[in-house]
Amino acid sequence: MGAVTTRVSSFGVVTTTFYTLLNYIKDNDGENLNVCEVGCLDGKYTIPFLKKGYNVDAYEMNMIYLYGGHVQYPIVKEDDSVIIQRRTIYGAEDRINIEELHDKVNLCSDNFFKCNKKQYDVVYSKRALHRDEYADIPMKDKIKSLKDAVKEDGIMYIEYLMWLDDKNTDNLNPNQYIKQCEMQNYFKDGWEILSYVEDRKCIIDKPHIGNPTFHKHRVGMIKVRKNKNYENNYYNINMIF
Ligand SMILES: C[S@@+](CC[C@H](N)C(=O)[O-])C[C@H]1O[C@@H](n2cnc3c(N)ncnc32)[C@H](O)[C@@H]1O
Repeated sequence: MGAVTTRVSSFGVVTTTFYTLLNYIKDNDGENLNVCEVGCLDGKYTIPFLKKGYNVDAYEMNMIYLYGGHVQYPIVKEDDSVIIQRRTIYGAEDRINIEELHDKVNLCSDNFFKCNKKQYDVVYSKRALHRDEYADIPMKDKIKSLKDAVKEDGIMYIEYLMWLDDKNTDNLNPNQYIKQCEMQNYFKDGWEILSYVEDRKCIIDKPHIGNPTFHKHRVGMIKVRKNKNYENNYYNINMIF
């Protein structure tokens, strides 16, 4: 079987919410920005960032998503039964090359939480806090890595998975899943919260590559801006002469 189409991501169409965020960034932060994307899949969101003219460091730990290969591709039938096909997908590298957008992107196959040392104007992390690969890293440390990656006056968008109910009856690991109203606590000092929305109840997500059954999620998102003079005010650096 040939590779599936390159124009649309194998992970679905880009949502209007994402384009709203892009327009917000363009209007408020301008052009020629450096973006860090944590969990870029096959370039689903990387390509729209690149089309805006931004430079992107895109992290993705899954080599097939980055460079293409075979995946278990779920197809939902009319009666909601699911069949699984073995398909070949293009990876981020090919999709970006085909669009001739390769000049401004750096694809990183490492775990962002273990290796990033740079700072960016924009950090975009969509559902990339809960992976089993780093379930041992405390949530506050992962959020700190993300916060450290934002320049002063830079912007960050995080979408994350939450406990499925307020009592966490499913016993989800708090290193991976956030409890309601927890996220705002990480942005009390030195940040402006621009928007903050959390589902009250869980929703049923359709099968997709990486999770081929109907499954439950409860999702939150926060958009924040790091204060100007963050380092001076919040790292408490006292210089004594
Ligand atoms: C749930 S998926 C992201 C979903 C996607 N952004 C979307 O459309 O909703 C998470 C992806 O991010 C990657 N990822 C998660 N954490 C990462 C990290 N710390 N470093 C690099 N890649 C990461 C995973 O390999 C996975 O492909």
